[in-house]
Amino acid sequence: MTGGKRVLLIIGGGIAAYKSLDLIRRLRERGVKVKVVMTAAAQQFITPLAAGALTAEKVYTDLFDREAEQDVGHIRLARDTGLIIVAPATADLMAKMAQGLAGDLASTVLLATNRPVLVAPAMNPAMWAHPATQRNVATLKTDGIAFIGPESGEMAESGEAGLGRMAEPLAIAERALELLEAGSALPARPLAGKHVVITSGPTHEPIDPVRYIANRSSGKQGHAIAAAAAEAGARVTLISGPVTLPDPAGVTVIPVETAKEMLAAVEAALPADVAIMAAAVADWRVAQEGSEKIKKDGSGQPPALALVENPDILSTVGHLAGNRPKLVVGFAAETQNLIANAQGKLQRKAADWIVANDVSPSTGVMGGDANTVRIVTHDGIEDWPTLGKTEVARRLVARIAAALETAEG
Ligand SMILES: Cc1cc2nc3c(=O)[nH]c(=O)nc-3n(C[C@H](O)[C@H](O)[C@H](O)COP(=O)(O)O)c2cc1C
Repeated sequence: MTGGKRVLLIIGGGIAAYKSLDLIRRLRERGVKVKVVMTAAAQQFITPLAAGALTAEKVYTDLFDREAEQDVGHIRLARDTGLIIVAPATADLMAKMAQGLAGDLASTVLLATNRPVLVAPAMNPAMWAHPATQRNVATLKTDGIAFIGPESGEMAESGEAGLGRMAEPLAIAERALELLEAGSALPARPLAGKHVVITSGPTHEPIDPVRYIANRSSGKQGHAIAAAAAEAGARVTLISGPVTLPDPAGVTVIPVETAKEMLAAVEAALPADVAIMAAAVADWRVAQEGSEKIKKDGSGQPPALALVENPDILSTVGHLAGNRPKLVVGFAAETQNLIANAQGKLQRKAADWIVANDVSPSTGVMGGDANTVRIVTHDGIEDWPTLGKTEVARRLVARIAAALETAEG
């Protein structure tokens, strides 16, 4: 295999560049030979001297380096490696990659390479959330570029927090090793180019300005599916009810409260290739939401709360005429007659699959980390063993990718 355990690390011009020095150490500890390319902006944050001392190799900074280019060095740099890592990947560098620009050494190498590329973005949350950056990320994912992070947390700028921190050097090194060990094959990104819409969490249906009807859904399973779909290369829109979980990396999250808001957000997110409706949507809402806090009136009689049915999001999506995703997956959280109820839902709601799980209190599924699911399709029922919610998510995403591939022939 060309390159073996060799990595070309491209360091972009962000504050997180200092973490890339630690990344070099982590890679070398794992027996990986590291060469470094630094952008002009990166050299404002760390010096080639530091990177060179840690790699024990020449550091490349200039496209028009007479010595290195005697044998067209930029092409050698691009090809003579097992993997290219871009860390920190600036918004600017990702924009250049998405556009195929090659105005400096880093971008030229990235355009000339035929090796797998792992990108670790790092930037201010507003820069990451900007539609231009998100468009570039989607393009790069479609092109088969692997991503790690960004993560949520405090920014280097004081007082700023959100999605945009570079993944930790150790996590980048581990992912790099996985990609190197996968050999020269491009990383498995079976959902590259696909748009997946996922709902997650509970809904809150207001009774009055201070009270609401809710349920015990934590959103853990839906969020894990969103993370797994993003890892598999999909563009993911996650429409989430109120949860306390961090936003999964590389996913567009749309927060909502009520079932009506969730339906509107799902409709606005379409078209999509796949819809996974994992949220625990309240079946009913209060007919007349109190505009003021409802008070005891002294009569000893509790107020009567009239309920009306909420829109059925899964059924609405399943029955769409023009815009129906190719695969519509619903969830059935039941406490009795699991399979009969799931099969009924499959038919009534025009879903393709129902992921059925028993949420009786004794199972600990609601809010817990494990799940025992059965996949009910028009062809039969599959029993899955008890797995962590992350593992359930990965298996489900793999099964979805396989189903899309079969459908598309
Ligand atoms: C103090 C400072 C910190 C910066 N941090 C980041 C950052 O974290 N991420 C980013 O995308 N750009 C950041 N920028 C902007 C980039 O340095 C700028 O877009 C530069 O042109 C990127 O060049 P490059 O992509 O060739 O490395 C920062 C700029 C300054 C002055």
